Amino acid sequence: MDKDDIYESKVLVDDLRSALMPTYGDYGVVIKKAEGCRLFDVNDNVYLDFLAGVSVVSLGHANQVVNQAVVDQISNFGHLSNFFLNETTSKLAHRIASYVSSDTSDKGKVFFSNSGAEANETAIKLVRRYGGGQRYKIVTCLNSFHGRTMGALAATGQPGKQMPFQPLPPGFIYVEFDNVEQMRDAVSDPLVVAVMVEIIQGEGGVVDASPGYFEEVERLCKEREVLLVVDEVQTGMGRTGQMFAFSHFGLDPDVVTLSKALGNGFPIGATWARTSVANTFVPGDHGSTFGGSPSSSAAALAVFDEIERRGILDHVVEVSDYLRSRLIELDIVHIVSGMGLLLGVRLKRPVAKEIVARSLRCGLVLNALSDRIIRVAPPLVVSKDEIDEALAVFSKVSSDL
Ligand SMILES: Cc1ncc(COP(=O)(O)O)c(C=O)c1O
Repeated sequence: MDKDDIYESKVLVDDLRSALMPTYGDYGVVIKKAEGCRLFDVNDNVYLDFLAGVSVVSLGHANQVVNQAVVDQISNFGHLSNFFLNETTSKLAHRIASYVSSDTSDKGKVFFSNSGAEANETAIKLVRRYGGGQRYKIVTCLNSFHGRTMGALAATGQPGKQMPFQPLPPGFIYVEFDNVEQMRDAVSDPLVVAVMVEIIQGEGGVVDASPGYFEEVERLCKEREVLLVVDEVQTGMGRTGQMFAFSHFGLDPDVVTLSKALGNGFPIGATWARTSVANTFVPGDHGSTFGGSPSSSAAALAVFDEIERRGILDHVVEVSDYLRSRLIELDIVHIVSGMGLLLGVRLKRPVAKEIVARSLRCGLVLNALSDRIIRVAPPLVVSKDEIDEALAVFSKVSSDL
């Protein structure tokens, strides 16, 4: 770019930012088109997207099958209201239930919303309803991330994010992630009704738990008759190589929350619960004008179809092994955490932000979760060639750091 182009580009970025609240640290890049794993900006730069809209566009940008499903639906009707039933939304509820529940006699029920935070808000209200006023406390983990609305933020075990918005709803107990002793103490409180966990702490740095941790958490929950809520907002829909990450550990949760990749970019959140828990809600307890929108439901049904038809879960396992083994060979890389295509690249030195900035200039989108951790989360349809291309950039930009 020459000087005039840089000036014009800056004017455009400032203009586009000017009426938006300053909540996001955007990269200052204006996108005009996106397709598959590629983004195209207004200056005709091309980027390989290894962030996938933050684990959302798993089937790639502008996926034609998902788009067509939405077009077909909105040509008929896009929105009704929850005073009416429609086949698309109910079909999606059955589809989610058939994947989540391992119990053939109880497939459970789903409440639809529009985002991950809302899916978790629903879970929080639901378990409190189930507690019937006698039990209301929820145990969550330090360093977790469950969303930014007031209830979800209260569940999020990050004091730094909570501090400016105090007072938050009370009734949350925070324990260290991966610490069985602390979890045991917490669930022994007779007022505890539920434990809420992520299988991999995504926003918290792609943090894994030790083998046996989740099985023990589930055992403790069963022993104390405490509900197990699994937040699959980031890990769900095949990102870890199973449709849901809890399946890696053979868990049988009582409540599961989904969003992000469920609609491949069309806004949707879902909260599944086993029937005995789901049926504690009565009409008027909870609701959402757009929740269960036929248009987003059509997108999500197409996402399930595509994951099955294209054998996406097997593909994730295959390319994940490849990506992981190549990442660990890089000089700057200490270890690689995570599963499937949600990987945390832990660096030997605190240069994550520099690597992300340099990568962007070389046409690769990554995300720094801290000074030493880079999140690598490409669309699940990423090819080995695209992985090679990304690794070449990563290697080049980190070689002198
Ligand atoms: C595990 C988890 N839960 C909840 C959320 C919140 O989702 P949303 O931003 O759609 O509200 C996120 C977002 O990153 C997440 O990773």
